[in-house]
Amino acid sequence: VLVGGRGSNLEALIRAGVDVVQVVSHRPGVRALAVAAAAGIPAAVVDPARAASRAEWDRALCRQVEEIPCDGVIMAGFLRQVGPPLLERYGERIVNVHPSLLPAFPGLHAVRQALAYGVKITGVTVHFVEAALDQGPIIAQEAVAVVPDDTEDTLTARVQQVEHRLLPAVVRDLDQGRIRRNGRRVWREESECAPW
Ligand code: GRF
Repeated sequence: VLVGGRGSNLEALIRAGVDVVQVVSHRPGVRALAVAAAAGIPAAVVDPARAASRAEWDRALCRQVEEIPCDGVIMAGFLRQVGPPLLERYGERIVNVHPSLLPAFPGLHAVRQALAYGVKITGVTVHFVEAALDQGPIIAQEAVAVVPDDTEDTLTARVQQVEHRLLPAVVRDLDQGRIRRNGRRVWREESECAPW
């Protein structure tokens, strides 16, 4: 699991019984690393500030992830784009959770963007990761209504409640081979069709 912040999605994955073999953060000192430590999960930091170049950081991140064999890579609060080495190595086995109904409000501060725009409905997207930011094929989405008194904090709290349910459910489906993909179109099958 790639993290960079509070680690509440990491906690949700652990609670749901996902076998998290390693946590990698792009930022030192974040709460997500403490969550990993408390759960006894090996954790590492690959800090872009300590890499000589973007390309070197990309390679270091891939090397770190490869250190412990895994079936797939889950980006949960990892606020950096991953580069070619990781994408080539793990290809269709990288997923990300994003706090909006993509393609609306990609990038940082998606909840703030939704409030500023004035949409009545926003939500959560879980998608496959591709090189272009927040543009990979969508696996699952769930809507969250915006209410008149919402602040960034209150709306974020409701969006995250959905994330904590949707992301583990998608990971379980991937693990059980229930997610079928045909180009940009992705759907869930009741029976096993495509083991991760
Ligand atoms: C989540 O809202 C996720 O969608 C976004 O960053 C946030 C991470 O939260 N990419 P946490 O670190 O899992 O608590």
